[in-house]
Amino acid sequence: MDNRPIGVFDSGLGGLTAVKELRTILPNERIVYFGDTGRVPYGTRSVKTIEKYAAQDIRFLSSMDIKLVIAACGTVSSVAPHIGMVMALPFIGVVNPASKAAAAATKNGRVGVIGTTATIKSGAYDKALHTLNPDIQVFSRDCPLFVPLVENGWFRKDDEVARIAARRYLTPLREQGIDTLILGCTHFPLLWDVIHEAMGEGVTLINTGCEAAHTAAALLRERDALNEEEGPGSCRFFVSDSIEGFQRLAGILLGSEESQDVRQVDIDSTAC
Ligand code: DGL
Repeated sequence: MDNRPIGVFDSGLGGLTAVKELRTILPNERIVYFGDTGRVPYGTRSVKTIEKYAAQDIRFLSSMDIKLVIAACGTVSSVAPHIGMVMALPFIGVVNPASKAAAAATKNGRVGVIGTTATIKSGAYDKALHTLNPDIQVFSRDCPLFVPLVENGWFRKDDEVARIAARRYLTPLREQGIDTLILGCTHFPLLWDVIHEAMGEGVTLINTGCEAAHTAAALLRERDALNEEEGPGSCRFFVSDSIEGFQRLAGILLGSEESQDVRQVDIDSTAC
C-alpha cells in the first residue's frame, strides 16, 4: 500500500482526460495535476523546448512526494519518451498504452493517428504500432488547431468551427479506410463527438489519456502500491496561468466539485 499521490501533467487541459478515468477506476487515489497553461501549446515547439518544459513539470510534481508520474501529453510522450529519468519515479506516457489498444482494436490493419505537429513528426506512434504488429498500415495527420479550440472551450458537439476543422483534417483519413483512430493528443478526446461525426460509424476512437490511466492502475496494482485508505480520494490542480479559465473548463469535464482546488504556480521559479 502506498498513500502518496499520483502525479499527472500536460501542457494544459488535455491531461484531464486521464484524470477523469483515474477518478473512475481508482476513486480513492489522491491526484496532483499540473497543467502548463501559461506555456501551452507544446506541440508547435522544438524538441529541446519540449524536453525542458517536461523536465520542469516532472520536477515540480515530484516536489509533492508522488509515487508515479503520468505524462498525459501526447507531445511529451512522443518527443521525450525518456524524460521520466530526470527523477527516480515510475513514469508512464500515452504512446505505448494507446498503441496497444489500437493494435488490439483494428480488424483491417489500417490505423489512423492524429496529434500535434511535434507528435506526428516524431513518428512515435508509427514505431510503437509497428513494434506491436509490423503489418499495420499507419496513416498520420497533425491537427494543431484542435488544441486552441479545446483550450478555448470550443469543443461541444454543435460547435461549427470545431466541426469545420474536423472535416478538413479528417476527411483524408476517412478516405483511407481506417477502422481505428488514435487521438494521439490528450486534448482531442474533448472533441470526441465532433471527431466521431467526421469519421463516421465503424471507426473506433482510442482515448490516449484513458489508456494511460488504465496502464497506471495496472502498474500500481502489480507493485502493490494502491492507496488502500478508507474514504474518497482527491484532486489538486496547479496551473502556470490564471485559474479561472482552467477551473471553468475542468468543471465541465470533471464536475465543479472535483475542480475546486486549483492554484497558480510560477513554474520557472519552482522547478529549476
Ligand atoms: N495535450 C497535449 C498533447 O497531447 C498538448 C498539445 C499541445 O500542447 O500542443 O500533445
